[in-house]
Amino acid sequence: MVTEAATRRETSTGGDEKRRRGRVLVVDDEANAREALAELLEEEGYETATAAEGRRALEMLSTFDPDVILTDLKMPGIDGLELIDRAKPQCPHAAFVVMTAFGSIDTAVQAIKRGAENYLTKPLDLAAVTALVERAFEKSLLSREAAQLREQVETKGGVPGILGDHPSMQRVLKVVEQVAKSRATVLISGESGTGKELIAAAIHHLSPRRGRPFVRVNCAALAESLLESELFGHEKGAFTGAHTRRAGRFEQADGGTLFLDEISEVPLPLQVKLLRFLQEREFERVGGNETLTVDVRVVAATNKDLEQATKAGTFREDLFYRLDVVRIDLPPLRARPSDIPVLAYHFLRKYAAENDRQIEGFTDEALRALMDYGWPGNVRELENAIERAVVLSDGPVLDVDVFSRTSAAGGKAGDLSALIPGLSLKELERLAIERTLAACNGSRSKAAAMLGISRRTLQYRIKEWNLGDTVE
Ligand SMILES: Nc1ncnc2c1ncn2[C@@H]1O[C@H](COP(=O)(O)OP(=O)(O)OP(=O)(O)O)[C@@H](O)[C@H]1O
Ligand SMILES: [Mg+2]
Repeated sequence: MVTEAATRRETSTGGDEKRRRGRVLVVDDEANAREALAELLEEEGYETATAAEGRRALEMLSTFDPDVILTDLKMPGIDGLELIDRAKPQCPHAAFVVMTAFGSIDTAVQAIKRGAENYLTKPLDLAAVTALVERAFEKSLLSREAAQLREQVETKGGVPGILGDHPSMQRVLKVVEQVAKSRATVLISGESGTGKELIAAAIHHLSPRRGRPFVRVNCAALAESLLESELFGHEKGAFTGAHTRRAGRFEQADGGTLFLDEISEVPLPLQVKLLRFLQEREFERVGGNETLTVDVRVVAATNKDLEQATKAGTFREDLFYRLDVVRIDLPPLRARPSDIPVLAYHFLRKYAAENDRQIEGFTDEALRALMDYGWPGNVRELENAIERAVVLSDGPVLDVDVFSRTSAAGGKAGDLSALIPGLSLKELERLAIERTLAACNGSRSKAAAMLGISRRTLQYRIKEWNLGDTVE
């Protein structure tokens, strides 16, 4: 609504449109003073509201959201000082200007101590009123802007608790932020230890469902019949041992997120029931007739190639497509070696604190070895290696020897003996290709020559393993 005062201000200031009108709440038990002040400030272009006492002023905060609160100090009921205390938490950006009658400076000083911007003495000098309100308004705008900036920085800081600056991880985190808001089913795929569970939890915590349960079910851990009652619950007497009715994980997750880990391990008959839930949002408890519906967002994870499993006939294709609405492919750690130092330092701090050890960092050689290693167990293996190293080391810096004592990562680049036994032939082949490519700075023809295979075979392997990222 454009008031007359606003129009006047626009003409007098040349219509600076970007500048929003400030809102001032005038609180004074004296009706004349209150109205006169409101009128003066309206003339100055502010939007105003008035309250005759502290309690009313507090009530108005929910609808008015002032930039400046201009308040008398001496009032019956809630006085100016109390108003400051009680209004601050509700409108943290509002600036207070207090008015004190008898020129009694000590109450004004108390008000300043409680966070008021400034004070005016009565009888009021109108020029001083407009000057102080103007300054208070600027102050409040700055405070709001600072808060907005902070918020931007915090949300831009990405997904809390998940480290990784490599472009492949940044892409993942962007998708996480985008899908979190929706209810879309998410399928997270990635090798063991790449952070699938962490990502699933992040999706939940960034979603509007964050206040509701995040429930995880490991589908590989239970036999078919147990898994069914675990997921969907059972009625009393549904099977031997079912002494009472029990709510399943779907019911427990109502309003929240259900994380189906190792989804590839769900037996075929149960896959049908999952499919039904994803299509109709309906299910029955084991041994029950009542059809239940719940509001659950499903996030599934797998370290197997589900598409392959559909071809092999162990996973239903229709279920696969229902799950694969949004896909998040977590890159293996060796495909993002630039993330290794950040993660290594993160785990170093974590385990040094946990074990009460003063360890500052890694020697260059140790860090190099960590970056050169293939990490078949991905982030989890790195985390374990650092934990062991922290426990076993006795110096203030972790050197390469402490890793070679504990894990394959300590092996010098090229020294594969530490990895065998432990790697499959396929993994060895992959490691050979990765390291050779890295040594040839990504040149595929050089690497193929060095490996004694054709360029086409090399291309094929790179594609097969999604190594594209390492050889940009
Ligand atoms: N990007 C990351 N930043 C920080 N910590 C990570 C990151 N990725 C993984 N981790 C840590 O590594 C460990 C393994 O992660 P997580 O359990 O999520 O992997 P996973 O893919 O579910 O593994 P699995 O397939 O074996 O179940 C956890 O302790 C997790 O906190
Ligand atoms: Mg997991």
